[in-house]
Amino acid sequence: MRHEIAARTGVERLPARQGSPAKEFWDWLDERLGLQALAYPVPAHANSILYTLGGITLAGFAVLVATGVYMAQFYHPHPADARESIAYFTTQAQFGSFVRSVHFWTANLVVITASLHMLRVFFTASYKRPREVNWLIGVGLVTMAMALFFTGTVLKWDQEAYEALAHNEAVAKTLGSLGSFATGEFARSVPLLTRLYVVHVSILPALLGLLLLLHLFLVKHHGISPLPGQREMKAQVVGRGGGSTGAAPVPTSTFNLHLRKMLGYGLLLTAMAAILALALPAALGPTATPGMEVTKPPWLFWWLYAFENWFGIKALFWGAVAVPLLLALVPFFDRSPSRKPTERRWFIGAAAVAIAALVSLTIYVALSPVAQHIGGE
Ligand code: HEM
Repeated sequence: MRHEIAARTGVERLPARQGSPAKEFWDWLDERLGLQALAYPVPAHANSILYTLGGITLAGFAVLVATGVYMAQFYHPHPADARESIAYFTTQAQFGSFVRSVHFWTANLVVITASLHMLRVFFTASYKRPREVNWLIGVGLVTMAMALFFTGTVLKWDQEAYEALAHNEAVAKTLGSLGSFATGEFARSVPLLTRLYVVHVSILPALLGLLLLLHLFLVKHHGISPLPGQREMKAQVVGRGGGSTGAAPVPTSTFNLHLRKMLGYGLLLTAMAAILALALPAALGPTATPGMEVTKPPWLFWWLYAFENWFGIKALFWGAVAVPLLLALVPFFDRSPSRKPTERRWFIGAAAVAIAALVSLTIYVALSPVAQHIGGE
């Protein structure tokens, strides 16, 4: 009978496998969705935590979307109601305070995992040929993540949020007509807060989603980079620079196992966000008093705040442009084929100096009092 069906349809039906209901269900899904195709070879080191940081960040984004969608049901993006709608959500909605705090802590953790992922890619020189474009996409991703954090901070519409938006407008005004769309005057019919909400919930997530698809497509296309000193696994770069010259190493793991690790670490990240959410719920400051400057920005912007202290409001713009630009240049300056840190001393040294500067600026701002920036302009 099986042979008759196969002859008629050209498809050899797989025999029904015996086992637990879970196994049977899995086999049923596999037959229809081709899940076995996920079992393609990947290098064993892809499963180490350092090479899973991008995947952990991805899992964090999923948590942010899920918690964000729930919060959006209650949030009112208008200056008259925004803060109160959050207060209502946290006190009246089912698990409101917990969901908001998980969103807040996951955003913090994702900024950390994305930065660690970038550092891993830097130290293993994984941005080298043929992965330069994926590094550039990564720079775009981390910029989007920072922009999401900033716009999210504004949405809560308390004193900190108000001051953050005032800085946003002050920077935009220094740019003249180029920055006019980021000011309240651009569209008087819709408050700037409402427009930033649209940016936070649709424009930035759509751009980030698009970049992520490209990023993951290129990871699949090139395969995970070899460990420094190892050869490329993929044939397309063999013998064309990038340090790849010979036979592929024997694959020792599969992507479905890598996916499982990614999910496991992703769950750990979520658990960490949940514990932090219970221990330290996200704060909601007092209703804003216009004209006052009594808060500092979120910690990830402190290095920029230091420049603002020294050079004024314009430094916010130039700092936010210069750093991604410098990052984007990395693959075009570090052009030797070697991926070994010992053969890239200049670059490793420059990165160490940059990291030390960033940490020092952050500590400096943590220890310094709040400064008047906008009134002082
Ligand atoms: C912000 C969100 C980001 C997500 C969700 C993400 C996701 C991923 C994933 C899942 C991988 C596969 C390997 C791994 O997990 O380590 C990967 C690889 C890669 N990422 Fe990202 N990434 C992000 C940001 C960045 C940034 C900021 C950079 C650098 C500026 C970057 C550059 C790269 C490169 C070059 C690879 C290939 C590395 C290799 O083959 O070893 N990514 N990314």
